Amino acid sequence: MVYSQAKVIAGGLAHIPIVIGIFYFIMTFFNKRAIEYAEANKPKKVEKKVEKPEIKAKSSAPTKVESKVEVQKTTSDSSEIKTESPKNNEITNIEKKPMKKKHADVPVNIYRPKTPYEGTVIENYSLLKEGAIGRVNHITFDLKDSDPFLNYVEGQSIGIMPAGEDANGKPHKLRLYSIASTRHGDNFEGNTVSLCVRQLQYEKDGETINGVCSTYLCDIKPGDKVKITGPVGKEMLLPDEEDANVVMLATGTGIAPMRAYLRRMFEPTEKEKNKWNFKGKAWLFMGAPKSANLLYEEDLQRYLTDNPDNFKYTKAISREQQNTKGGRMYIQDRVLESANELFNMIEDEKTHIYLCGLKGMEPGIDEAMTKAAEEKGLNWSELRPQLKKAGRWHVETY
Ligand code: FAD
Ligand code: A2P
Repeated sequence: MVYSQAKVIAGGLAHIPIVIGIFYFIMTFFNKRAIEYAEANKPKKVEKKVEKPEIKAKSSAPTKVESKVEVQKTTSDSSEIKTESPKNNEITNIEKKPMKKKHADVPVNIYRPKTPYEGTVIENYSLLKEGAIGRVNHITFDLKDSDPFLNYVEGQSIGIMPAGEDANGKPHKLRLYSIASTRHGDNFEGNTVSLCVRQLQYEKDGETINGVCSTYLCDIKPGDKVKITGPVGKEMLLPDEEDANVVMLATGTGIAPMRAYLRRMFEPTEKEKNKWNFKGKAWLFMGAPKSANLLYEEDLQRYLTDNPDNFKYTKAISREQQNTKGGRMYIQDRVLESANELFNMIEDEKTHIYLCGLKGMEPGIDEAMTKAAEEKGLNWSELRPQLKKAGRWHVETY
């Protein structure tokens, strides 16, 4: 019994090499056939014509460029924009258009504090009428000798470095001022820049303190040289669209950028120069303490007469008018009065809102916008970030 079981096992084991052999033979046969078949059906080698990547770079750029590189130089010394290049071995027949960064061609920091431009004062005159409070001046500087040329666009600011030294014997730091002229300047020749400056004055311990730079600016005379930096800022730029609507909320010298916008929209000679045919609605809410403090009033009245369908002008004269609660009339009170019309405009995606002037007006404007939005069944705290994200809510307060 034991012997016969061992015989069966031995017999079984003896068959293993035979089975492996047969299996190996079958595999080899089929592999060979498969290789022959694949060889027979191999596609013909096609010479692929690959266009050499186009290189649009400055001549100083290295010549060994395997991928596409576009270098776009703006007038700014700090805004070199490079488009993303495809991987070296990536073959594509699709012509990739370079993505232009928004406002990439807006000039910034042509002049910096270490090497400011010394501009000559052309004119410096008061913007106030008899009986006005304080001191607010319109000041124009000549830029024609600047090299590189100090160009700018509406909505930007420049820096002014007042002459003299601070209490520590160090040169004064620069102060920013919104540009009040269009890029073509008040003379339309494109070689000046204008500011609208209020002298800072306050009382401290029974003494009147004058702001350093604002006093320096209000006191300078035609022919004086002033250290200028910039331009800076892209927050307050106008939209390109001619059919955009522009709502402007300004207090005091916050009118400066708005004056530039309104000249660009409505000043006949400026329009001829800029070829920007504004077709939208511009609405200025202006806050001033007294009628005599209203700035650029004659120009604004002329724009109103000439463009009744495109320009609306609402004033809040705080010390002459009262709000419904009997307090000083502020622009936020005017915003509330016009809530319905204003929010009809804001709901239109072509509408941009600009806020400039006293920092202190921001909470009041927010509160008014909240109430005004509620009247339309809207939620301002949700709407405002959306407007900001869409680049339609522009704020520059100081
Ligand atoms: P400073 O000598 O610098 O004195 C200012 C300091 O005085 C304050 O920092 C504070 O410490 C103190 N101070 C101020 N008020 C009081 C007070 N009531 N009580 C106690 N202390 C006080 N200004 C314009 O006139 N026109 C513009 O178009 C304009 N545009 C601007 C744009 C931007 C983007 C910014 C940021 C500011 C702008 N300003 C503008 C404001 C301007 O830059 C200066 O801040 C302003 O002229 C005051 O500077 P100053 O050197 O005269 O005052
Ligand atoms: P007021 O000073 O009567 O309180 P200016 O720069 O020429 O002084 O003008 C600023 C205008 O803004 C003034 O009419 C001033 O009113 C007004 N104002 C002051 N504080 C606020 C505020 N928190 N919100 C809105 N307007 C304000």
